[in-house]
Amino acid sequence: MTDNSTITARIPQIFAPLLTQKKRIKFFYGGRGGGKSYAFADSLLIKGCQKKLLIACLREVQDSIKDSVYRLLCSRIKHYRLKDYRILENKIVNRSTGSEFIFKGLRDTDAQKIKSLEGVDIAWIEEGQTISKRSWDILSPTIRKDGSEIWISMNREAPDDPLWQLLAAHPDERSLVVKVNYYDNPFCPEELKLQAEKCRRDSPDDYEHIWLGLPCKQGANQLIPPDIIRRAFEPKYISSSSSSALVIGLDVARFGDDKTVFCFRRGRSCQRFIVLEKQDVVSVADYCQNIIQDWQPARIFLDSGGVGGGVYDVLVARGFRRLLRAVNFGSRAIREDRYVNRRAEMWDNLREWLSGSLEVSLIADEDLLFELINVNKSYDAKGRLQLESKDLIKKRLGRSPDKADALALTFAEPVYDAGPANPQAASVENLFQTLSTDSKW
Ligand SMILES: Nc1ncnc2c1ncn2[C@@H]1O[C@H](COP(=O)(O)OP(=O)(O)O)[C@@H](O)[C@H]1O
Ligand SMILES: [Mg+2]
Repeated sequence: MTDNSTITARIPQIFAPLLTQKKRIKFFYGGRGGGKSYAFADSLLIKGCQKKLLIACLREVQDSIKDSVYRLLCSRIKHYRLKDYRILENKIVNRSTGSEFIFKGLRDTDAQKIKSLEGVDIAWIEEGQTISKRSWDILSPTIRKDGSEIWISMNREAPDDPLWQLLAAHPDERSLVVKVNYYDNPFCPEELKLQAEKCRRDSPDDYEHIWLGLPCKQGANQLIPPDIIRRAFEPKYISSSSSSALVIGLDVARFGDDKTVFCFRRGRSCQRFIVLEKQDVVSVADYCQNIIQDWQPARIFLDSGGVGGGVYDVLVARGFRRLLRAVNFGSRAIREDRYVNRRAEMWDNLREWLSGSLEVSLIADEDLLFELINVNKSYDAKGRLQLESKDLIKKRLGRSPDKADALALTFAEPVYDAGPANPQAASVENLFQTLSTDSKW
């Protein structure tokens, strides 16, 4: 078992104030690999050994404890062989001091659950960039015990991230704000440093954001600005959602590490993604067939490029032709005068949906936000919208924007409960022209 002073010596110097200073707010921000998560976890484990503390590990959304820092804390406890800690199913306790670590998502926290936070000594908010103003306004007065502290770790996303604006842009004397990047972390793995260096050479803007912790440039070429996504992430009640047709977008894995993603949208509400990994054509088709039987969607749009074409063929052979539309991202747009291809058209429909005058609701998902804001647009010689190629995006993100593509697929064409399309409209193209943005989706 490692003693506290040995662990303290393993925490990078820049994080020393976590243990040595008394501040209401301790706000550490910066790019990937700065050591924030490790330093917070180690410091809290030390504190929990010193005296009885109630420590709340908080995020905006926590569907399962696996989303939280629970796993990191467990691995640090094992790494240091901290025998006093007992790892339980949904909390971690210290048998000597009686300290407890609890894990919660703020977004769905009701009055009762929030009350349970009143005795908290230290609240750790991980991924602070995703915290909404609403969550902060509820949390801040709840952490009310004398001497209680709120620790925040975040990578800035947009210039106006709520917690940045509220806490770090103009800090007071009770707040500590520290920027930390990978070069401040003496334990930063060589591999991460190489990735950072490559990114610096290939894509300076991304380097500044991902590795130096600057907010994303809301450049003129960003298709979807983060503020409209965050607005859609705010919890809200959408009354029409249950009566609108269920439309599913299915982005089938192409090769290697891509994932197969189902996105479920009903009108103005998109609350569900299902992600499959490493599945062959028939397994995806089987899965899709079960979804059809369980959910009775009005339409499934699936990406017919690569493996998706095979899934389509299997499902058509099983009699689901009426439900399915194969969408080829690279093919001609329905409104060819405005878009270079189908992909640009669907994504722009999605942007319209997010920025329309009626409220829309999108499941708050960090991966999705990251994917949505990372697609750049440009215009061809005819003034038509086009998107950065999937390969380029994949290179920049280090993965494909699978969830965002599945969501965009649900906007391939308008869908009505009654059937394929409005019978009055001679063609889908007509339909696009005759409907207003708000009634289309
Ligand atoms: N105290 C530490 N001991 C050993 N390795 C560490 C330590 N702190 C950070 N690291 C290494 O640095 C990497 C990045 O740290 P992490 O806390 O994940 O950074 P951030 O949260 O700022 O992105 C970790 O994956 C780990 O390999
Ligand atoms: Mg981290």
